Amino acid sequence: MRADLSGQVVFITGAAGGIGRATAHRLAANGASIVVADIDADGAGRVAAELPSALAVSMDVRRAEDAKRAVDATLEKFGRIDVLINNAGVNSMKERVNIDKFSEDEWRRIVGIDLDGLYVVSHAALQPMVAHGHGRIVNIASVIGVAGFRLQSAFSAAKAGMIHLTRSMALELGPKGILVNSLAPGSVLTEGTKQLFYGDDGTFRAQMAGFMSHIPLGRPAHVEEIAEGILFLCAPENSYMTGHLMMVDGGWTAGFMF
Ligand SMILES: NC(=O)c1ccc[n+]([C@@H]2O[C@H](COP(=O)([O-])OP(=O)(O)OC[C@H]3O[C@@H](n4cnc5c(N)ncnc54)[C@H](O)[C@@H]3O)[C@@H](O)[C@H]2O)c1
Repeated sequence: MRADLSGQVVFITGAAGGIGRATAHRLAANGASIVVADIDADGAGRVAAELPSALAVSMDVRRAEDAKRAVDATLEKFGRIDVLINNAGVNSMKERVNIDKFSEDEWRRIVGIDLDGLYVVSHAALQPMVAHGHGRIVNIASVIGVAGFRLQSAFSAAKAGMIHLTRSMALELGPKGILVNSLAPGSVLTEGTKQLFYGDDGTFRAQMAGFMSHIPLGRPAHVEEIAEGILFLCAPENSYMTGHLMMVDGGWTAGFMF
């Protein structure tokens, strides 16, 4: 789809790779200036250099001082923030274990980035957005925040919290002209998840074929398909949807494929 985002400033966390980078490109192609915010400073710089109008900021979404510095740098360069996309997120990729074996450090790392990070960055970005009296926030959740998932307790708790925080934020910020929605990707093929599908030797893993059989569309999403949903939530045409959870999951959560 096309949307007129010209003149709009979009702040995207975790924009150095995967879904964040694809979203930066998609929104930039529709006229937006992009703040590429990521803990990976080199990656953020590389993505910003690919875009016509962008600023790279290095930040850890868990740190309030980083978020304030990033927001100040954005205001200095662009003078405003119209859209915040809370996309930075992590999960345990290799060592997936039951809750009784789940380490406290890993719990705090995941919940700290995926849930606390949403609060920390929103808190900083909302100062200018509320003063401006209009804006959009899009929080990138997961199907695993809707249905539980074995061996991913911290991620599922953090993403469920994110979805519910979205609703509370929508209630508080609607009267201030700010629409807040979340989007739940299903399975998405990125550099990070490629290993789950193809293993270390690059061969498609039989176990993943079983997993894909639960998805009516039978395949993981491309990052561009997630970015398209995000573009819709940011578009001026989307003017009456807030507190909503948009599923972009190939039908995974529609029901049972048996
Ligand atoms: N890929 C999937 O299958 C999938 C499925 C559902 C939900 N999601 C969600 O989508 C979002 C993006 O995922 P992705 O697959 O593109 O991930 P990714 O790993 O490709 O990219 C995540 C980005 O976040 C950055 N990041 C990590 N910790 C950070 C921190 N503390 N502060 C700032 N930046 C940090 C990383 O450097 C990276 O650039 C995440 O919230 C993820 O949970 C992804």
